[in-house]
Amino acid sequence: MLYSAKVMEHFANPHNVGELKDANGVGEVGNQKCGDIMKMYIKVENGIITDVSFMTFGCGAAIATSSMATDLIKGQPITEALKLTNRAVVEALDGLPPVKVHCSVLAEQAIKAAIADYYRRQGIDPTPIVGDLGECEACAHESESCSCGE
Ligand code: FES
Repeated sequence: MLYSAKVMEHFANPHNVGELKDANGVGEVGNQKCGDIMKMYIKVENGIITDVSFMTFGCGAAIATSSMATDLIKGQPITEALKLTNRAVVEALDGLPPVKVHCSVLAEQAIKAAIADYYRRQGIDPTPIVGDLGECEACAHESESCSCGE
């Protein structure tokens, strides 16, 4: 079996799917190589992500990682959500086949993009807080198969 039971579960029944009408941060990222797109919505109150949802035109691994990632940041302070790496999400899913690890980068980047949007709406420059959204941790490990678009 290529995929863990947890991946299959989140793929078949993803959590936090759809548009969040009262979101105050929205981020959209794309994977230029495969063409997959992910949109992440967050609602922030007093520095806490009280609600989160996502929509994706993406592969099963992207859906499963987004579902898990939204579960992991829901109810967390922004500072904690920013620390969430794609590796941590993959671990929480009991792993992904190596060739699909890059798909998990989409979820991490979409969360960061949504947080950056939230800061921008508050009139705060997100760059020093959120960092460079273009960075792709998986590139260092899988330069051949990485499709984060860099
Ligand atoms: Fe595009 Fe997985 S193949 S994100």
